[in-house]
Amino acid sequence: MVSDNWTVGKVAQRAGVAVSALHFYERKGLIRSYRNAGNQRRYTSDVLRRISVIKAAQKLGISLEEIRETFATLPEGRTPTQQDWERLSTQWQDQLDARIRYLERLKDYLTGCIGCGCLSMKKCPLYNADDKLSQEGSGPVLLDREGTP
Ligand code: FES
Repeated sequence: MVSDNWTVGKVAQRAGVAVSALHFYERKGLIRSYRNAGNQRRYTSDVLRRISVIKAAQKLGISLEEIRETFATLPEGRTPTQQDWERLSTQWQDQLDARIRYLERLKDYLTGCIGCGCLSMKKCPLYNADDKLSQEGSGPVLLDREGTP
């Protein structure tokens, strides 16, 4: 039994998002609506919590696809509970930490590139970061590998 009967306009107003954003979230499978007897789109009030989680995650740089995948791990696609949020925010914090470390490394690389402009495959860490193939030799390493029976 559906306990609420919220219009898209009411949800948009309460959540502080555009109606078009709600339709977009719904197309992406992030929120759900139902149809009332008059075939009008309606939402239950728990959609506000889902939207809050979506907006918070987006601020962390989590993509909508990642958010959708995370929501899909919840039992029966339920709205995240407080315990769910603790787990999700911890997971996203780890992702954010990894992204910060990656960006700091790129910043260090960029410092060495400022004023250079060589974009050399051999020495530029931005252009060819972590050149793992160079450990297998020079030249068309991948072509040689693929051509070997
Ligand atoms: S541009 Fe020369 S080292 Fe990156």
